[in-house]
Amino acid sequence: MAALQTLFTYVGIGIVAYYISVALTLLYDVFLRQGARLEKFGAGRGAWAIVTGCTDGLGREAALELARRKFNILLISRSQEKLTAMAEEIRQLGVEAHTLVVDFAQTTADDWTRIQQEIDAHFVGVLVNNVGASYDHPMFVEEVDPVALDRMVDLNVRAMIKMTTLTLPQMKQRRVGLIVNNGSFAALQPSPFLAAYSGTKAFVKCFSQSVAAEVAPFNITVEHLQTYFVCTQMTKMRRPTFFIPLPKPYIKCVFNKIGVQGGSSEPFTSVPFMPHALMAFVAERVVPKQLGISYNYKLLAGLRKRALKKKEREAQQK
Ligand SMILES: NC(=O)c1ccc[n+]([C@@H]2O[C@H](COP(=O)([O-])OP(=O)(O)OC[C@H]3O[C@@H](n4cnc5c(N)ncnc54)[C@H](OP(=O)(O)O)[C@@H]3O)[C@@H](O)[C@H]2O)c1
Repeated sequence: MAALQTLFTYVGIGIVAYYISVALTLLYDVFLRQGARLEKFGAGRGAWAIVTGCTDGLGREAALELARRKFNILLISRSQEKLTAMAEEIRQLGVEAHTLVVDFAQTTADDWTRIQQEIDAHFVGVLVNNVGASYDHPMFVEEVDPVALDRMVDLNVRAMIKMTTLTLPQMKQRRVGLIVNNGSFAALQPSPFLAAYSGTKAFVKCFSQSVAAEVAPFNITVEHLQTYFVCTQMTKMRRPTFFIPLPKPYIKCVFNKIGVQGGSSEPFTSVPFMPHALMAFVAERVVPKQLGISYNYKLLAGLRKRALKKKEREAQQK
């Protein structure tokens, strides 16, 4: 009996020690630890950064931040007018900017040839696979417009795979490179009523982690960026809160913490923004998965109802 008691005591101490060490690592990561220096990927040495979906939201801020850190920028998005304005803004930061109009929901062989030619013409140090789409509002998967479902797969999955495969050969040859894939908390906790989005972001996570392991021996960093809500067009959130930042401070934090896991326990994954890191810590290590799914179900079912009522009101007003 006494031996059993001693065993339980040691197991208990072990568990508490584990949680304390994990919590201390989290605090170290989010408050003190610096990420990889971007000079490692060619900043200030003529290297280019490619950003997809770069005229708004997180992509726009990623392009501006990488320009401030002295990368030339290749901007890829679907509207020439917005791209031209972005390129002008970036050149004012003292670096070069090129633009490519590509609609990732309707790519042609010619689009991929143009992208390949731009890649081949430059020293690409960084690729940010940012372009993505979600639902208009939470709904049952069969309620989603089939065209919107295809678009989600094209943007969230196909564009990332293709951009990665076009860029990696050069990075491998130079033995330098950083690929940041913009994922989501929807991959951390499965999200009923956002099933297709959640599924594509789970793909982003697994793809990123697998490729990261493949290319690590070539000195290439692949980072799965697990993003919680940020105020952008996609989320339709405008006012920042403690947990929901504006794109600028969020992205600044992302590039200060490359290679730092922050709140994530997953390999090759980063949750760098402190409030998000705390949430990820609790969601991953404290809350049982099934409870997280039930919580998401209630939350998102409620949002679906509210969105449908709003649509109804708008239809009546018309
Ligand atoms: N915001 C969040 O809270 C959040 C959370 C988790 C993950 N993420 C991920 O972060 C990424 C960016 O999200 P965001 O909120 O910044 O989105 P956003 O504000 O909607 O911006 C999306 C950008 O992509 C461009 N784009 C849209 N469709 C395109 C297409 N078919 N072809 C080429 N470019 C296209 C848009 O250009 P136009 O101006 O032409 O539309 C815009 O520049 C996504 O992968 C998203 O899943 C965001």
